Amino acid sequence: GTGKFFVGGNWKCNGSKESITKLVSDLNSATLEPDVDVVVAPPFVYLDMVKNSLTDRIEISAQNSWISKGGAFTGEISVEQLKDIGCKWVILGHSERRHVIGETDQFIGKKAAYALNQGLGVIACIGELLEEREAGKTFDVCFKQLKAYADAIPSWDAVVIAYEPVWAIGTGKVATPQQAQEVHVACRDWLKKNVSPEVASKTRIIYGGSVNGSNCAELAKQEDIDGFLVGGASLKGPEFAIIVNSVT
Ligand code: G3H
Repeated sequence: GTGKFFVGGNWKCNGSKESITKLVSDLNSATLEPDVDVVVAPPFVYLDMVKNSLTDRIEISAQNSWISKGGAFTGEISVEQLKDIGCKWVILGHSERRHVIGETDQFIGKKAAYALNQGLGVIACIGELLEEREAGKTFDVCFKQLKAYADAIPSWDAVVIAYEPVWAIGTGKVATPQQAQEVHVACRDWLKKNVSPEVASKTRIIYGGSVNGSNCAELAKQEDIDGFLVGGASLKGPEFAIIVNSVT
């Protein structure tokens, strides 16, 4: 792998005060390998509560952020506000925002640039649909999404790339270690040719899509898998800890 293992828990639009209090308490008592960056992304309304109750061992991420400085943008949350409550990261370009909400490559690129310029780390998601994979377009789709980030952002220093094949998200159909490794290598090559060899070797590329406590170890062994972005299994503290501790 490249750099420090990175495991993010994306809670998506799940949880209540009660269930999140329990999850935070399970995470606070979990034993986590020291050499892993661990981040959780609660829903906006619980961010401050989680920040104030969760161990500092685990950093906090938002699941989205506004494209520019806050102001008259009803329903949006600004990067300034996220920083104000101690949030260190934001997940951008997630497939649910691309394909359910309709966010475009350019819109996502601008959000990433703004967040990075203001000092947030960005978990930059990419990934192909099933029909794109079946049409042999996996690499093209991932490269196009990478290019949109590359064209917009000032630097890759605070970026973690999350490769999440859409057909593997929430389906229980995890990519095989070989399928994931193949795309991670291709993305690293793309960075090498289109950004720089240094960025290619330093940028962590994590995998997401039906990662759980049973399949994480095999995936983590792959040379170019530098961690995970976990959805469903991150809602269970003990299972999320197993995934964090799958670092090799
Ligand atoms: O951001 C996380 C991914 O969308 C993966 O979700 O682990 O529930 O498949 P999942």
